[in-house]
Amino acid sequence: MKGFATKAIHAGQEPDPGTGAIMTPVFLTSTYVQEELGRNKGYEYSRVSNPTRTALEQNVAALEGGTDGLAFGSGTAAVDALFHLLAPGDHVVMSQNVYGGTYRIAKMIWEVYGLKFSFVDTTDVKNIEKAILPATRMLFIETPTNPTIEITDLAACASLAKRRGILSVADNTFATPYLQQPLSFGIDIVVHSLTKYLNGHSDMLGGLVVTSNAGVTERLRFMQKAVGGILSPFDSWLCLRGTKTLAVRMKQHCENADAVARWLAGRKGIDRVLFPGLESHPGHALAKRQMRGFGGMISFELGSLAAAAAFLRNVRLCALAESLGGVESIITHPASMTHAAVPPEERKRIGVTDGMVRISVGLEDADDIIRDLDAALHAAGI
Ligand SMILES: Cc1ncc(COP(=O)(O)O)c(C=O)c1O
Repeated sequence: MKGFATKAIHAGQEPDPGTGAIMTPVFLTSTYVQEELGRNKGYEYSRVSNPTRTALEQNVAALEGGTDGLAFGSGTAAVDALFHLLAPGDHVVMSQNVYGGTYRIAKMIWEVYGLKFSFVDTTDVKNIEKAILPATRMLFIETPTNPTIEITDLAACASLAKRRGILSVADNTFATPYLQQPLSFGIDIVVHSLTKYLNGHSDMLGGLVVTSNAGVTERLRFMQKAVGGILSPFDSWLCLRGTKTLAVRMKQHCENADAVARWLAGRKGIDRVLFPGLESHPGHALAKRQMRGFGGMISFELGSLAAAAAFLRNVRLCALAESLGGVESIITHPASMTHAAVPPEERKRIGVTDGMVRISVGLEDADDIIRDLDAALHAAGI
């Protein structure tokens, strides 16, 4: 299997040997009958492993070009599992505008248990180099970032991390493996919120880690078994259904977002449009090099909280909601929603303003999305 779309449909999935069912069954079972002491068919207890979860883990691992996948109950549970690889006193260098929930785990949970974090602008690799300390054990980047849509150089980060002997992690939720494969640039670990594009239908929560590092896999399999924050069989099945159409969905997300971004950039009253597909975006050339498309996420600036609130009150087709990556267009106010856990002064430092709005451009007709945005801007007096 070579092509991405072929892998998306088939990797990790064989017709059911008992019935020929083409779809992987939902194995709703907690345990597995053993033939005799110490003999089983590869499954013992569903916290440790479950065939539906295994199919999803292998499917996403194949899409990312990694050896192993490990599915967790949410994206944040997957991120959290990665910090269990570290020990008190260890230091992590992190992209300064990671998802607010990732920031929250770092600051409010792991710092209490003795990990240390530096949040830096990873769009310039020199900032990462400067932040590395003798105790640094992990570099954690997000590209494109949420919600400022900044691009970080995956190859440069991977080679710096290798040189300095630290584990590199990329949150690939925004791009998906269809648009970029961090492991192919030398990154050690990819983490996903499955909740977004990989599932794609806003009907489950999940997280997944992919790696080809056998030591990391062994530790994380132990975490799944010991801590148990695993993905359920039904949610695994829902996500498997989603990954089958990832290639076609991402192509259309990219096409629609490009149309919306170009329209926004030409619309009066919009101060700044952040979309890597725009030639004016500072990360445009890098995104062109390391991604096969520019994704479906756009942030733009309306100048004030009042303007953003008035606009968001008037959208009709686009849903005012948390989350992203579903077939429907979703609009978010990062400062008060996804990034509410980030203190105001830190939000200011990283450019998450009160007037910023983020849109996950869905798969509706682009003209309908644009009409809705235009009508909401007019109604808000913009
Ligand atoms: C980039 C990114 N990583 C991780 C997460 C956390 O995922 P979940 O909501 O599935 O826990 C999110 C959620 O919005 C996200 O946007």
